[in-house]
Amino acid sequence: MPNAKRKLVIAIDGPAGAGKSTIAARLAQKLGYINLESGAMYRALALKAIQQNVSQDSERELLALAQSSEIRLQPTGEGNRVFLDGADVSARIRERDITDAASRVSVHPAVRAWMVARQREMGLRGGIIMEGRDIGTKVFPDADLKIFLDAAPEVRQERRIQQHGAAADQEQARRLAADLAERDRRDRTRAASPLQSAPDAVHIDSSAMGVDEVVRRVEELALARMAAD
Ligand code: DC
Repeated sequence: MPNAKRKLVIAIDGPAGAGKSTIAARLAQKLGYINLESGAMYRALALKAIQQNVSQDSERELLALAQSSEIRLQPTGEGNRVFLDGADVSARIRERDITDAASRVSVHPAVRAWMVARQREMGLRGGIIMEGRDIGTKVFPDADLKIFLDAAPEVRQERRIQQHGAAADQEQARRLAADLAERDRRDRTRAASPLQSAPDAVHIDSSAMGVDEVVRRVEELALARMAAD
């Protein structure tokens, strides 16, 4: 008999603007799982580095900073609330300077190793959907289901612009698109765990798909995975 109750670990990776957070939050609600945004942890560390004047290039100092920090993710239906040393930094870490800094602090192998260890602890009991860049390749190489969610660059840029409500402001729209392209480049070309699909990930291109459609597709895959046990 299929064991529909087994709590899976679901990994969703992909570039910025592919819709990972939205899909993870919606799917988590449907399955009664916890959604965890690993990128929010890199963002929180980046914020702390800026607050404490720690260089984004200093791997040693960034690691020490991470080790002395408490970064907590609180899943909600809309995404994660994020607490840094007890303070709610959810809104601040989505701002432009932190978005850029998070990508920069994430290139350091020692920082990544620290993050990966914390992220694995969060997944111990299953029943989670974790999204990021290296979840299927490094954090949970044995995940029950791996999704690589992508979309065409111009679609991802347009989504970002809409999220910022910047459609009317040409200059801001141009800047957001350029930021996204630069971050894509850095996330894909860094030496340590660059963004790439796990060989056993299911690819979904959301360019021409609505949120409901993507959620349905991933839910079908998850239910099939549970039934296969
Ligand atoms: O998903 P996000 O936009 O919040 O991620 C912010 C940055 O953090 C992203 O540009 C690269 C880095 N990141 C990473 O290197 N590995 C992850 N698993 C998640 C995010």
